Amino acid sequence: MSSADPKAPQPDLADLIRFYAEAGVDEALDDAPADRFAEAASAQGSRTPPQRQAAPSPSPRSAPALSVPDEAQAAKARELARQARTLEELRDILDGFDGCNLKFTAKQTVFSDGNPRAPLMLVGEAPGRDEDIKGKPFVGRSGQLLDRMLAAIGIERASGAYIANVIPWRPPGNRTPTPLETEICRPFIKRQIELVNPRVLVTLGGPSAKVVLNATDGVLKLRGKWQAHTTASGVEIPAMPTLHPAYLLRNPAHKKLAWRDFLEIRAKLDTLGG
Ligand code: URA
Repeated sequence: MSSADPKAPQPDLADLIRFYAEAGVDEALDDAPADRFAEAASAQGSRTPPQRQAAPSPSPRSAPALSVPDEAQAAKARELARQARTLEELRDILDGFDGCNLKFTAKQTVFSDGNPRAPLMLVGEAPGRDEDIKGKPFVGRSGQLLDRMLAAIGIERASGAYIANVIPWRPPGNRTPTPLETEICRPFIKRQIELVNPRVLVTLGGPSAKVVLNATDGVLKLRGKWQAHTTASGVEIPAMPTLHPAYLLRNPAHKKLAWRDFLEIRAKLDTLGG
């Protein structure tokens, strides 16, 4: 269609890029495209030379050969997380851990934001594009809503809350993390909660409640009811599952439910002296 006149605008390409963006494909891993057909033919002994157009530039992080997540990596994650004696050590361990493939498509590890000595800790699901760029959780649109929700109960994000995610690396295109990826990341967030030892814990969205509170019900059923998160050393932390700000942006009618949950959280902090 558009190839006859090289000077003609290329609507096909623009459409393709729009299609990719809407499907969540908004990152290029290499500068040059890889011709997988040529690579496959060459691997099978064909005489067709590989058509790779240019040497690949390094990916955001170069993946070691054995980075496919498996149960051995989950066991290693459990052992490493146990070894962390401070939040700084935990962050260093995560930075050196190559057992989760999500790390190799993410720009950086998104560890935490806020005040580790705050009485309130909030745990989301996984970083999105903005968080991946800035290296901090909840800095995009849902983060701005979260800031307003906290402010509405008199909490300033930077000083009055500590924020982290179950998954510290952005899944490519914001896809849902696989069960094994979640399993590999689970010990790290559990240890992070244990090291922060907040007075009150809040899970944002269903996936976070599932990992942090071993919940099996949907978040609309869970939300608003106090639960306990028990750390590996047996400390019980009151935990409130609530709706994820991204869900609230899509379903503003449910903001009133989150508001009730946040009033509960405020009351609990007041009772516990937070
Ligand atoms: N959603 C999350 O669950 N976490 C973030 O950090 C951003 C959006």
